[in-house]
Formats: sequence, structure tokens, C-alpha cells
Amino acid sequence: MDNKNSAWYQRLRAVECQDSTMSLSEDFLVLQEGQGSILRDVEGRSFIDLCAGFGALTHGHIDITAWTQNLKEDGLVQGMGDVYPSASKVKLLETIKSLLPPHLEKGALAVTGSQAVELALKTACLATGGNNFLCFQNGYHGLDIGVLPVTDGDHFRKPFESLLPHGRGFHLPYGCSIELLEKSYSDNSLKYGRIAAVLVEPIQGRGGIILPPPEWLMSLRHFCDKKNLLLIFDEVFTGLGRIGTMTSSFDVPCDITCLGKALGGGMPVSACFGTKEVMSSWPMNTGEAIHTGTFFGHALSCSVANKNLEFLVAQGLAERSASLGLKGLFFLKNSLLATSFVKDIRGKGLMIVIEMHESNQGVVLMNTLKRKGIIAIPSGPKGQCLSITPALNIPEPLFFEALETICGIIQSW
Ligand SMILES: Cc1ncc(COP(=O)(O)O)c(C=O)c1O
Repeated sequence: MDNKNSAWYQRLRAVECQDSTMSLSEDFLVLQEGQGSILRDVEGRSFIDLCAGFGALTHGHIDITAWTQNLKEDGLVQGMGDVYPSASKVKLLETIKSLLPPHLEKGALAVTGSQAVELALKTACLATGGNNFLCFQNGYHGLDIGVLPVTDGDHFRKPFESLLPHGRGFHLPYGCSIELLEKSYSDNSLKYGRIAAVLVEPIQGRGGIILPPPEWLMSLRHFCDKKNLLLIFDEVFTGLGRIGTMTSSFDVPCDITCLGKALGGGMPVSACFGTKEVMSSWPMNTGEAIHTGTFFGHALSCSVANKNLEFLVAQGLAERSASLGLKGLFFLKNSLLATSFVKDIRGKGLMIVIEMHESNQGVVLMNTLKRKGIIAIPSGPKGQCLSITPALNIPEPLFFEALETICGIIQSW
């Protein structure tokens, strides 16, 4: 067995909380470096990376030294968040605004995707006076306490129920009828008080890459208008090129959108952007912000995010994601849909999933792929899917080499 990997893994086990990293009994893998879409482990073995840091690495594993060289006016590592802004933070907010439709005018930065959604929930609470949310089964919005009510999954929530705030999330089937939304809205607002917003992923990511029915997002918009609710898009996974567009809010105007993952190109930075009206429900900060964090809008992360977005636009990576994703989808469907193990293949842009009939089959495939030098992770509530979310600039031959290997494995079952 690979001794170095095992030794590193045992060291980790001795010092890390046992929940923090998946436990393995064999096939240990400890990553050490990355270049583009190639990862290397502590033994120097190479892997094609189809996960790209859970969809965060737009340009793959970048050479951070090259990206941060000559950062003259943006050379600060850590700024003074809510007291004195960094120039890089100002630029990042301006750049994000320039990529969104004009009605999403103002935003706030944070570090993680969870925190961007938390910002959205707090904004909706301030803007409407409500603290309950209509959200969706199988939805994932992060695991911080503030977003636990809206992330689906009892196993995430149950152990911490006593810590949960009073706000509630009412989970409806993704793609459900407007009648069902109407019913949940009236039953729950009567019972629990004002509902502030509908929170939705334009495509469900961690839940197994599930696309909504056509026009469904627009019908949510109409529903929100009718009931005077805000419409919040969680675009932490789908945003900034992943599904072939910068944001779904050009097609359907949401009131608030949340961005994370791809924003920093690998650096931890996230954002919540909303209309001027909803964002101005926050009080003016005359000395102390009522929502901030030491590393919110971290100066160096903002500098890298600025470069990331500049290159993303200049290199047309959203468009590339759309066209390469379509080719990949076509290839996988042609190769696999006739096999008995595969239930469905779907996706948009470079957010593709192979769903299998049996629970846990995504985990089995992940482990087999690891032995063949490919990194991809399972998704879906029963681990029945394998998600493919590579860097948006993955070289085409490398992408298809990996897809061919996946197809070969499934065809051999
Ligand atoms: C749609 C969506 N929202 C929020 C999050 C939470 O982001 P983070 O893990 O950065 O807190 C995720 C993470 O996968 C996500 O996919």
C-alpha cells in the first residue's frame, strides 16, 4: 500500500476532529500540489481533477505566486474590513456589479458560501420583517447555524436542533407546483408568522445536479410578486460560469443573489448582491457594522478574485463551459444511457451528473476512479450520482480522456 499517503493520513487522524475528513480504511489519498486540472498526491502520483475544489477552481489549480506578483496597488493581504476598506475590495464589488443585471446594485462580501446565504437571509429578514423561508427538498445552502434551517437534511440539523434560531425553512419538492407553494405559504405563515422569501438554487448542486422544469424559476418570480416575498437565488455553485452563464438572474430577475465558490478562483471569498431597495434595509454603519467578520472581504482574496474574474471574462470561460459541457453531455449520453447501471445523465455547462440506479454507486465509482487516476465526487441524497465539475479551462483532450475512463469502467460492470 502507498506508505506515504497512509503515514500522512495517520498523522491527520491523530490531530483532527473525526468529522472533518472522510474516514478511509484503505486507498488513502493526501493531496500535495495542483497544476491546472492535474492534482498530485504526497507520493507524486497524478490525477485528473474533475472536482476542481468542489466547483470553485474556475482556472484549475493556479500558480498563486504568479497571480499575486506585481500586485502594486492591491498588495495588501489583510485589510480592516468594516472600518477602512481595501482598494481591492472596492474593485471586487464594482466588478461583481458589472457582471450582474443592473437591478442588482449593491452587495456585501463574506468568506464562505454559507455566509453569503446567511447575508441573504438576514437581508430578507430586515427588508420584510419575516424570518421564515420557503425552500426546497434536497437543497444545500451550507451548514452554518444561520443556514441550517434552509439546508435540507435531518442528519445535518437534528444534532443541533437546540441551537437553531427561530426562523424556519419549509422544504417543498424542487420543481413543485405553484399550488403547493401557495398552500405551504398560507399554512405556514398562519402557523409560524411572516415568510420573508423563497430561496432556491437555479440548479441543485450537491443534491445531485437537478435541473428545474422549464419556466419554473420564472413562475417562482410571479409567485413572489403576488405574495410580496423576495426571491433569493443561491448561485454559490451555479454562478460565474459553472453552468455556462454568469448568473441566472439575467433570465429571471431575483431580488438577491448569493455567489461563492468560483468568485475567488480558489481563494475564500463570497458575496450577496441585491436590489438597492432591499440592501438599503441594512442600517447605515456609523461606527459598528451589525454583520461583519475579521476576514470578510479579505484584501488578498479580493485581489485574486479580481484577476480571476478579469481572466474569466477575457478568456470567455462561461461560454467555453457551455460548449464543452454540451459536448461532454452528448458523449456521456451516447456511451452510457444504454447501460443497465445508469438511470440518467444530465447537466448544464460544466456541471454534469451521472445518476445510477443504486444507492451509493457514486461512492463506488469515485473509489474506482481514484485508482485509475481521476478525482470526482458523489452527490445526491443516496450517493447515487457522480458529479463532474472540472475547471472551466480544463484542456479538452484531458476532459475526454477522463470521460472515456469513466465510461469504460461503467461499461465493464
Ligand atoms: C448552492 C450552495 N450554497 C451554499 C453552499 C455553501 O458554501 P460553503 O461550503 O462555501 O459554505 C454550497 C456548497 O456546496 C452550495 O453548493
